[in-house]
Amino acid sequence: MTDEPTITTARLILRPWHAGDATALHQLAGRREIADTMISVPHPFTLEYATEWIVGTGHAHAKGHALHFAITEAPTGSLVGAAELRSIDTVHSHAELSFWIGVNWWGQGFATEVVHALVRHGFDQLHLNRILAYHMVRNPASGQVLKKAGLQQEGLLRQCVKKWSQFEDVVLMAVLHDDWRSQNRPNGCADLP
Ligand SMILES: CC(C)(COP(=O)(O)OP(=O)(O)OC[C@H]1O[C@@H](n2cnc3c(N)ncnc32)[C@H](O)[C@@H]1OP(=O)(O)O)[C@@H](O)C(=O)NCCC(=O)NCCS
Repeated sequence: MTDEPTITTARLILRPWHAGDATALHQLAGRREIADTMISVPHPFTLEYATEWIVGTGHAHAKGHALHFAITEAPTGSLVGAAELRSIDTVHSHAELSFWIGVNWWGQGFATEVVHALVRHGFDQLHLNRILAYHMVRNPASGQVLKKAGLQQEGLLRQCVKKWSQFEDVVLMAVLHDDWRSQNRPNGCADLP
């Protein structure tokens, strides 16, 4: 694998994780609101787990399995969330998108900015054919973020996961390269009619 990439958006820098992020990660991901709609985020999210998880992001990249990004605010460098393209399948050219934004930054369009950038990165740099994501039915904000980035609903997976001892219905969403390309010029501007 090549070096872990950094992606710059209008307000954010998506960069590789560093060992020094562990405390901030522990504080942000430790909020129950993050674990509430994420299967991959345990609760409690201890400092030890944060430290080990960051080490794991480097291993996943080295094996070509995933690209993990620390989402930071461009002016301050403060950690505001996490995003990844994971389950990268080079045979079938697809990967799964996953993301969360720290509670204090919700509602500012940060997830929208991140997901647009990762979809572009997945298609332009990783040459994926398909990018998919899952969200719980009771998490419509995530569905809205994904829809705005071009993903469309492909299925409803009834009682697919268990959270807080309750089975949850999950929506499967995805976007194909050809569909995305037809909606986006290479420079990022939407095609004119
Ligand atoms: C879901 C999450 C990522 C959204 O992050 P965010 O930065 O607040 O998202 P944005 O501000 O970019 O966009 C949120 C969109 O959802 C919409 N929204 C918010 N609540 C909504 C609701 N109850 N129903 C429908 N849409 C809703 C907002 O209006 C906005 O859409 P708009 O810009 O078209 O108006 C964030 O709440 C989060 O991290 N949650 C916990 C982890 C998680 O669920 N991650 C996703 C797992 S799939």
